Amino acid sequence: MSLLKLLIFQPILMLSAFTGTADGYYEYMMNECVYSTSDYSDMVFLASSSFNQVVYLQFNSSVGKYVGYTELGVKYAENFNKDQAFIQQKKAAVDRFCRHNAQIWDTAVRDKSVTPKITLRSAREAGGSRPAILMCSAYEFYPKKIKVSWLRNGEEMTSDVTSTMEMANGNWFYQIHSELEYTPKSGEKISCMVEHASFSKPMITDWDPSVPEAERNKIAIGASGLVLGIIIAAAGLIYYKKKSAGRILVPN
Ligand SMILES: *[C@@H]1O[C@H](CO)[C@@H](O)[C@H](O)[C@H]1NC(C)=O
Repeated sequence: MSLLKLLIFQPILMLSAFTGTADGYYEYMMNECVYSTSDYSDMVFLASSSFNQVVYLQFNSSVGKYVGYTELGVKYAENFNKDQAFIQQKKAAVDRFCRHNAQIWDTAVRDKSVTPKITLRSAREAGGSRPAILMCSAYEFYPKKIKVSWLRNGEEMTSDVTSTMEMANGNWFYQIHSELEYTPKSGEKISCMVEHASFSKPMITDWDPSVPEAERNKIAIGASGLVLGIIIAAAGLIYYKKKSAGRILVPN
């Protein structure tokens, strides 16, 4: 499942030898664990060394040895690869470091997924030749990785879809919004499909075009007003009837 793709990185050394002014040297070493399956079968351990942002040496556990990318890097790689004990230790890191830590991280953080709250609403109604716009939003979900797509009668729609990036709420949760511009046709079914680690299968929300939400609200407000008016009118009528019943009309 590509949705789970994760990168753990651990910068282990950053050296900057400043020469008194703003310029200097920057040595950077990074260990990474790259995987996209929940059983860690495709786990790769990478150890990269960079100097002034240029990667000159890298160990890739799938390759099983160091590879140099600059003249100096090639020399380093030759030397490191001769040291079998050192190479074995690096190869073991895919289990000892990556799988071990990924398991801890997954149980501590990644498996604590939080289901997105999904809303589907009309952002603009169709009018004349102007297409309609639907907005599908997912709120308060974790982790960040998510996919929002649109379906017309179950088929994915690719054109006229605009999505925002996942936006951090600042409280570990994220939100995302996707817009679909389309020309409504009768009898069709438009749906918003959300894929997230917290769902065992894609969550599909169907658009109900019967009465737009804004119209529904107006109708609800109007109906409430009407009911209130009838109650007041009825109360007034009863009050009037009671008052007038106590009075005897005397003909003059
Ligand atoms: C590691 O090596 C494998 C096998 O050559 C390759 O497929 C993969 O892309 C490499 N990973 C990186 C990040 O370079």
